[in-house]
Amino acid sequence: MAQGSALGVDLGGTNLRVCLVDLHGDASYHAVQTKTLIPPALMVSHEATRLFDFIAEQVETLIKIHRPACLSGVETEVFSLGLTFSFPVYQNAIDSGILLRWTKGFDIPSVIGQDVCQLLQHQVDLRNLPVKVTALVNDAAGTIMSRAYSLPANQTRTSIGTIFGTGTNGVYLEKLLKISKPLDGRFDDSTGQMFISIEWGSFDNDLSVLPNTEYDVQVNEASINPGNQMFEKRVSGMFLGELLRTALVELHNDPEVRLFHRPDKSTSGEGIDKTSLHTRWAVDSSILSIAESDVTEDLAMLRQKIVDVFAISSSLVSINDARVVKVVAHAIGKRAARLGGMALGAVVLKTEQLATPKTFRRNECYPDMEGDAPFNPLDVTDQLLEGDTARYPILSASDGPCLVDVGVDGSVAEFYPRFEMYMREALRAVEGIGLDGEKRIRMGLAKDGSSIGAAIIALIATQA
Ligand code: BGC
Repeated sequence: MAQGSALGVDLGGTNLRVCLVDLHGDASYHAVQTKTLIPPALMVSHEATRLFDFIAEQVETLIKIHRPACLSGVETEVFSLGLTFSFPVYQNAIDSGILLRWTKGFDIPSVIGQDVCQLLQHQVDLRNLPVKVTALVNDAAGTIMSRAYSLPANQTRTSIGTIFGTGTNGVYLEKLLKISKPLDGRFDDSTGQMFISIEWGSFDNDLSVLPNTEYDVQVNEASINPGNQMFEKRVSGMFLGELLRTALVELHNDPEVRLFHRPDKSTSGEGIDKTSLHTRWAVDSSILSIAESDVTEDLAMLRQKIVDVFAISSSLVSINDARVVKVVAHAIGKRAARLGGMALGAVVLKTEQLATPKTFRRNECYPDMEGDAPFNPLDVTDQLLEGDTARYPILSASDGPCLVDVGVDGSVAEFYPRFEMYMREALRAVEGIGLDGEKRIRMGLAKDGSSIGAAIIALIATQA
């Protein structure tokens, strides 16, 4: 099991996370982490260097605080850095990848077509930092790694990672033999497997099956990448608040509904036209979580949130208004979760993990097996042990045999109440999964999987 210190950088949402992780080699680790809001001017820019210099600066700050001796030259440690870069890249080696396109509100055209590891290494070198970018990772892959690292060695290995945060994506472990696309570049084929980043955010961009309401149409048209990431625009945190805002504006303007109007006046609420209700992208997805969780009679918590988020007077927000917001928010949130469940279901079916009769690998589901090789999440063999199924009980799932372990990260999955429950509803509806299959899928939050997982991969990459 990997052991030592490494840096993880997570770039992919509104915040930049940088962490320094000490892996103890026994499924435990100690991590220190910083989280900094990325200045919007760096997310949409004509200069590539500014964003990467900002990252290098945050890395320098973290080392200065926690390992100052490494900067003063007293210690000579060179840190491996895993870069979680959560955008579509063409990855041709563990430490190199070409950006294909930006998503989630980023737009720095000059980076497209460039190797993002080299861009970061260049800025790190300009600052003379003892850091080598050794791994490029998608956040969903980081989620698999951090969850696999922290699960006891006797439990089913994590094979799928999902992100439901600012953006959405899934990564799974695929057998090399099953990959028909020509693979170029440098890669280690010794495990016979490879992570596949699905980039399901851009599933069905031509909308042949996805639902498309008038609000989806408006949000897509107002985005910086119309026609792209159409699945993501219905599922991820960056878009859920905007979908809600768009729908509520319609209801505010509808003379039949008169949302956020004073009941006794024929005109609309004074001053409301200049509020966040009428400002694009002004509303984040946290209001959907409050709407879902407030089940009180008077919806006091939700009403307060509406007042805060939309910056409108509390006299314009009646209980009935809050009820309307709750219904619309619920429809948006539940749809997101169900679509997420469908995407996960598709991966489960594709990997045929439910179809395989339950057999265990020696390190996977056994308690106290002496003489086993230490657990390494990258070291997956398909050697099945005949007869062992009968001899040992299935350990991990409280609700039945567990065959598929899924790491989940992202603010929507973490904070939207019942997100997993709605995903599971959808999984049960998928042909080939159903009630029995759904029970055999275990999902677990891999919090901060993206940065910690990147550090783990960086270390494994250098120690391999
Ligand atoms: C990106 C993916 C990423 C996902 C979650 C999407 O916009 O294209 O690479 O994994 O967001 O952060």
